[in-house]
Amino acid sequence: MNSTPSTPSTTSTTSTGASAGIRGLGTGAFRWQRTHNLGELNANHAGKEVILMGWVHRRRDHGQLIFIDLRDRFGLTQVVMDPAVAPQLLEPASAIRNEFVIAVKGLVQKRPDGMINKALPTGAIEIAVNELRILNACDVLPFPVSDDGETSETLRLKYRYLDLRRPRLRDNILKRVKFVKAMRKALESHAFLDIETPFLYKSTPEGAREFLVPSRVHPAHFYALPQSPQLFKQVLMVSGFDRYYQVVKCFRDEDLRADRQPEFTQVDCEMSFVDEEAILSTFESIIRQAVTEFFDGREIPAFPRMSYDHAMEHYGVDKPDTRFELKLHDVSQLVASCGFKVFAEAISTGGIVNALVVKGQAEAFSRKDIDEVTEFVRQYGAKGLAWAKKGAGTGLAGWQSPIAKFLSDETVDAIDRKLGLNAGDLILFGAGGYDLTKASLGALRNHLGARLKLYDPAQLNFLWVQEFPLLEKDAGTGRWIAKHHPFTSPKPEDIAKLETDPGAVKASAYDLVLNGNEVAGGSIRIHDPEVQKKLFATIGLSDEEAQAKFGFLLEALKFGAPPHGGIAFGLDRLTMILTGCDAIRDVIVFPKTQKGTCLMTGAPGEVSLDQLRDLHIRVNRLE
Ligand code: AMO
Ligand code: AMP
Repeated sequence: MNSTPSTPSTTSTTSTGASAGIRGLGTGAFRWQRTHNLGELNANHAGKEVILMGWVHRRRDHGQLIFIDLRDRFGLTQVVMDPAVAPQLLEPASAIRNEFVIAVKGLVQKRPDGMINKALPTGAIEIAVNELRILNACDVLPFPVSDDGETSETLRLKYRYLDLRRPRLRDNILKRVKFVKAMRKALESHAFLDIETPFLYKSTPEGAREFLVPSRVHPAHFYALPQSPQLFKQVLMVSGFDRYYQVVKCFRDEDLRADRQPEFTQVDCEMSFVDEEAILSTFESIIRQAVTEFFDGREIPAFPRMSYDHAMEHYGVDKPDTRFELKLHDVSQLVASCGFKVFAEAISTGGIVNALVVKGQAEAFSRKDIDEVTEFVRQYGAKGLAWAKKGAGTGLAGWQSPIAKFLSDETVDAIDRKLGLNAGDLILFGAGGYDLTKASLGALRNHLGARLKLYDPAQLNFLWVQEFPLLEKDAGTGRWIAKHHPFTSPKPEDIAKLETDPGAVKASAYDLVLNGNEVAGGSIRIHDPEVQKKLFATIGLSDEEAQAKFGFLLEALKFGAPPHGGIAFGLDRLTMILTGCDAIRDVIVFPKTQKGTCLMTGAPGEVSLDQLRDLHIRVNRLE
């Protein structure tokens, strides 16, 4: 060290003292201002006097010298203290512990040859400290934060602010910020306007259960938190704003899963004077632009398109993961009259038999593995899973299978040909009703894709899924209900079928799928009050009910509504995939647990009787 302290009167501090600068930045002549962040200094800054502030990431005592890696969100910078040269540093330097917040003043100096750390952007320099202030101390930590070592999720959620200091979460959040910025930039380059809409809202019919907020001023009346700004954004189109977007919280009181939170964020969008094609091409270029920017230039190829029917038939799900093959094959015709009762009965009762060919896995799959995949499909309601291992030879001689004894040489040969089997293939069969069989084998396909590592996890496969059915039968009541929401337009050519064959009507609706996850959904909206009326009639909604639920929208449609449509991107899901995470909790700063609680704040919590009284609410505790 070759520098001397420039303001000796303010130099050394301890964590308990009360003079200027202690646990603070000082005032007047002693006021310190940070000159650089901890990721930006390099050899070009050598010789410069700097003031740096941050957290003590790691501290190493090397005999005379004390080295500290100082950390902020920009990076790490090594600072070095030499009490032999600057004795005033000895006391405060020895008080410093991990995660103390400190400020240092000193000179940037090049590290000696051999001490350069090429892995760090600041690895060519260090700061020779001549003044030090301890800005704050840190209690004993519940878990170390300097790395991502194993810690229970409960503890991490309770001390989320500490977890957010750790590299993985911090980087996830910084990446999320980067992606949101890229999305905004792409949307704004396409003339979309960022417009806010209310959170205190009225119940809308979008499917999920709503969170309600009682009104103090209007006893027994409730706001609902929006499941999405769907109706507002449509009304904004009637107002003439033409292109709207919003990065917005949505609230749904649903059962939670790894890819679902009760409050989550959409990049919600709507456009006027468009048809389905215009929407898909606009948002495809927006997403490609944003993802390319996110990955600093990675080219994203054009998105393929697939119909809902095709997706269900070949992948068993409406959000196919196209990174790998392993498609579902229909063998119903070949086994309709075979001797295996499970198959024959499935067909005779209107069901199907489908097969998955797991190439080259016959040897690798033990009985235990087969039991495991059978258990897997049972979770989806399947009764079982039949299997065969293809060996050498043709007909029954080439099959090892518990069901072989029920089948003929001809049937086995026909299956061999249809599936293009080779020796060493494992074939898994599901039989039963269409929906259940597709769903269980579709889930098994994804399970095997992951288990057998059939794809490169870094690959990004976007896919548009289109031509969804407009309506589906409600499992409980047996009535037709809207599959997306009741403002989704039928395909124009199908409008007549609303009365005659509602199940066959296709919607102008689309989902964007990324690696088997639904990352966006949207539709062209009905802008013709007559069509809207017809749809309500089909789903058994009377004029009065429709008026009571969303009369304002129906009315707005009468005052010159432009043709319009839109889409909403699930920001958490998109970011989860783009950052390579498995759970959306990992890209949300303060997520809820699977039970909808916040372990850091303790929400939801009890409230006082006075608060309840104000809201005209009496709570019956059902114990
Ligand atoms: P939808 O209900 O399909 O459409 O939602 C759009 C996208 O939001 C994401 N998403 C969720 N993410 C996390 N947790 C949840 N609980 C959750 N629910 C949905 C999904 C989904 O694709 N108003 C319409 C859009 C429109 O028609 O324009 C809507 O909300 O990624
Ligand atoms: P079981 O007649 O129930 O003993 O079943 C004989 C074989 O058929 C077992 O390997 C079962 O797992 C399988 N199996 C049973 N139900 C189904 C089904 N719905 N689809 C495919 N395989 C089935």
